[in-house]
Amino acid sequence: MDRNAPVGVFDSGVGGLTVAREIIRQMPGERIVYFGDTARLPYGSKSQDTVLRYSRQIIRFLITKEVKAIVIACNTASAYALETVEKELDIPIIGVIRAGARTAVRATRNGKIGVIGTEGTISSGIYTDVMKAMRPDIEVTGKACPLFVPLVEEGLLHDSVTDEIASRYLSVLKGRFIDTLVLGCTHYPLIRSTLKRLMGDQVTLVNPAYETAIELKELLEERGMAGDEDFGGGEKYQFYVSDLAEKFTAFATSILPEQVKETRRIAVEEY
Ligand code: DGL
Repeated sequence: MDRNAPVGVFDSGVGGLTVAREIIRQMPGERIVYFGDTARLPYGSKSQDTVLRYSRQIIRFLITKEVKAIVIACNTASAYALETVEKELDIPIIGVIRAGARTAVRATRNGKIGVIGTEGTISSGIYTDVMKAMRPDIEVTGKACPLFVPLVEEGLLHDSVTDEIASRYLSVLKGRFIDTLVLGCTHYPLIRSTLKRLMGDQVTLVNPAYETAIELKELLEERGMAGDEDFGGGEKYQFYVSDLAEKFTAFATSILPEQVKETRRIAVEEY
């Protein structure tokens, strides 16, 4: 395997760019092929079968780009597809859930953790299962926040509407006296300041995107697969979507440390 081959990163849309951003910051030597399934977003309200089928198509596409490892930068797809697809692949693949769960278990002082995510992620119960396997006495409260994704997609990151909806969603978690909150959806780090203000300073917010980049770094280093900073030409970051490439390019440029010059649209259902 070529250690300078790219890492494949995928999400249902733009949200996984929060994971790509961390990979770019923490691993400047890595090339990335990013795919955002903008035509079929949201995954959060779809069935497991559908999300698994979509994930397999995207993985087949990424393999054509000769990626050396894959990151499922989507909580819902990590919850529904990772366990199955990791058995089908001969390159490493990681999701965002284990890294986020591990950090939350380490961070909590009172053993009460909240998890917010899409309906799919919360109803799968995966964060609870993973955290309880790490520490059985932990108390986990999950809360689905389906309106956060469209609010972020609309760019309402600092807006009274977002404040109002967030305070309704978070009230149940405040009532459980959690001291740690997992942002279990790719979009939520983009409204981190609102969530922090509403939860208060005593609650630690865990961003699985950050921890996932650390997990990827460790995995590539352990296997002698980490890329060189001086990677020898070619396009360092490539972006693909299934719909509306211009909109994606503008969003990506606004949150990534690099200007995104081009996004290509592909027919992912053909893979
Ligand atoms: N990327 C999804 C997640 O992290 C959120 C958006 C969607 O529902 O597709 O769960």
